[in-house]
Parts: sequence; structure tokens; C-alpha cells
Amino acid sequence: MPDNGMNKHALVTGASSGIGLSITQHLLAKGYRVTGISRRGIIGQEHALFTPVALDLANSKQIELTLKQLLAGNQFDCFIHSAGYGEFGSIEQFSVNRIERAIQVNLTSALIICRHLIPAFRARRAGRLIFIGSESGLNAGRKGALYSAAKFGLRGFSQALRDDCASDNIQVSLINPGMVRSPFFDGLSFAPADNIENAIAPAQIAELVHFILNSGDNIVFDEVELSPRIKSINFSPPSQASD
Ligand SMILES: NC(=O)c1ccc[n+]([C@@H]2O[C@H](COP(=O)([O-])OP(=O)(O)OC[C@H]3O[C@@H](n4cnc5c(N)ncnc54)[C@H](OP(=O)(O)O)[C@@H]3O)[C@@H](O)[C@H]2O)c1
Repeated sequence: MPDNGMNKHALVTGASSGIGLSITQHLLAKGYRVTGISRRGIIGQEHALFTPVALDLANSKQIELTLKQLLAGNQFDCFIHSAGYGEFGSIEQFSVNRIERAIQVNLTSALIICRHLIPAFRARRAGRLIFIGSESGLNAGRKGALYSAAKFGLRGFSQALRDDCASDNIQVSLINPGMVRSPFFDGLSFAPADNIENAIAPAQIAELVHFILNSGDNIVFDEVELSPRIKSINFSPPSQASD
């Protein structure tokens, strides 16, 4: 049943897979219009309330162009940044291109999108932003230098934005999940172990996003941390790094 999403419009990055796909499906089911950004654009099936936007978030110029076009024809009520990917290894294993791309897609793209969205939110004195961070943005460890650099950055951005925007009635939240069972681990040398208690389900993050979007105007969920009850990991032989 549609609920208070009626007539609301969400902009979601990473809409084609995993957490972002689940958020998109959840919000559509609640009656939101969703514009979904990803390279693939698609979410598997057509939906009358869904507008796909095929965009590579590694391309700053293309982000700027697309956001200008989107904002010319749409009024967004909320933005959820879920696009991202993991790069794990020692820093000397990564080419400069690969470092720049990981920081760009996981972090810089969110800053550029917000640069365009925030003025419209301020003008209307309304807007909600939710960033999908990571437990790697709370604590860094072995092989996490590049991914944690991006996720710590996203956390700093979210904290500052939260205070910068509060007086204009804009609420900024960061969700820091532990392992979520999604295609994120395709191509990585580790994944959550197989039992249900070893991973968060993407639908559980989607429910949380919807809950935060429906919270009162007088409060902000600054950061939410959640993790699987049993943190058991399967390891496989590492794949070769390449550009
Ligand atoms: N899975 C976990 O355990 C976990 C835990 C904590 C945090 N996170 C974070 O949660 C977010 C979503 O991850 P997920 O688990 O849902 O992974 P996923 O299933 O691999 O989804 C990643 C999404 O990001 C999009 N994306 C990747 N590169 C892109 C690019 N260059 N341009 C545009 N879109 C791009 C992908 O779309 P296309 O491929 O179509 O471009 C896809 O929709 C990420 O920020 C990740 O860091 C994940």
C-alpha cells in the first residue's frame, strides 16, 4: 500500500543493484517517484514511477550536466547516495587511475550532486539526504586504505553538511552498515559467510532509509550503525588487480 511517499520524489544513486536497488523498490512500493542513477540505468523491470538515468559517476562533467537537466524538470524531496564499490589491498597495488576512480565514485560524486541539489532544498526549506557509508568509515584496517579513505571522507562530508543545512530544515543522515549480502562482493576475495545472521539484507537497509525519511522535522538521525549478529567471513584466493 502506498503511504506517505505519495507525491514525494527521491533521487537514488546505485539504483541498479544491491542496497540502492532495494531502496528504490521499497520507495516505489510506498508510492514515491524515484529517479535512479547507475551506469546500467535499469532496475530489472519497468515501473510507472521509476525514471532510469544511465550515468557513470566517475565522470564529473557528465554528473554536472545530468544534474542540471534533472533539476530543470524535477523537484526532488530526498537524495540517497548508495553508489559505490570496494577496492581492497595495499595502496601500492593501485594505479593512480584506480585510486582516483574509487574516490570519485564513492565520495566526490556525492559532493558534486549535493552542490546542485542543496540550493533547491534550501530555497524550499525542505530536503532529506541519506548517505550509505560503511563500518569502514568508522574504523580502518588492513587492506582498507583506499576504501576507508573514501568512506571516512563521506562521513566527514555528511557531518559537516548536517550542520551547514540544519537551519534550512534539511536533514542529513549517514548509515554505516557492516556486511550486506549484495553483488558488492562479486570479484572480491571475501564475502560474508552463508548464514542469514552473517549479513544484513539489502531490504533491511531499505526499511531503515524509509524510516529515516519519515522521521519528524525536529530531529536528525545523524548516523546509524548496524552489523550482522555473527561477523563470519568467507575468504577466497585474491583476483589480480588491473586498470
Ligand atoms: N555490501 C556491503 O557489505 C556494504 C557494506 C557497507 C557499505 N556498503 C556500501 O553500500 C553501497 C552500495 O553497495 P551494494 O552492496 O549495494 O553494492 P552493489 O550491489 O555492487 O551496488 C553498487 C551500485 O553502485 C553503482 N555504481 C558503481 N559504480 C558506479 C559508477 N561508476 N557510476 C554509477 N554507478 C555506479 C552500481 O551500478 P552500475 O554497476 O549499474 O553502475 C550499483 O547500482 C556502496 O557505497 C558500498 O560501499 C556496502
